[in-house]
Amino acid sequence: MKPGKFITLEGIDGAGKSTQLAWIVELLRRAGLQPVVTREPGGTALGEHLRALLLDKSMAMHAETEALLMFAARREHLDKVVLPALHQGQWVISDRFTDASFAYQGGGRGLDTDKLEILEHWVQGALQPDLTLYFDVPVEVGQQRISQIKEADRFELEQASFFQRVRNAYLDRARQFPGRIQIIDSSRPLAEVKTAVEQTIQQLL
Ligand code: TMP
Repeated sequence: MKPGKFITLEGIDGAGKSTQLAWIVELLRRAGLQPVVTREPGGTALGEHLRALLLDKSMAMHAETEALLMFAARREHLDKVVLPALHQGQWVISDRFTDASFAYQGGGRGLDTDKLEILEHWVQGALQPDLTLYFDVPVEVGQQRISQIKEADRFELEQASFFQRVRNAYLDRARQFPGRIQIIDSSRPLAEVKTAVEQTIQQLL
């Protein structure tokens, strides 16, 4: 059977991923696919427990602990959800994946990229998404959107300078992997962002 495709969505907090996730699901369903929709950290019972710890604003932790827990959740997620679905020919859409570790733990927290690459290789071998949509917004726009949605979690409480480093790291990765990572300017009106997403997804179909 033809393996399914693996699509990941990325962006700083408040970049509008959730809205576009729903739109991508609709586009794939229209094309006759039944995508598996999942997220990181999370997507499995253990991963959701780890997510709760990672997002708990009262849970202070070392930056390397944070990175290791992200990759532990990812290992479980790959084993239980992503790889079985891809092997069955299903399409998988994950709200965040390893680019988030390079952006948040690498860029935001300043962790050594070499260490993250070791974890990446350990946990996922050569597996990479077929397509990553990176929703790019200026930090002020992201921060304004988060403050309107819900109570801030441990990451959302970070300063603007943290998100600036996260955004720069995402943009660096998009330059490093131009074939895989598509930058979508998410500060435009919603209809324009949806059109850009549709064009990108059509290329994959
Ligand atoms: P979400 O709110 O977009 O679902 O993401 C949860 C938070 O986890 C978000 O602030 C980004 C952060 N995160 C990391 O710091 N590293 C990672 O590897 C992943 C997957 C998420």
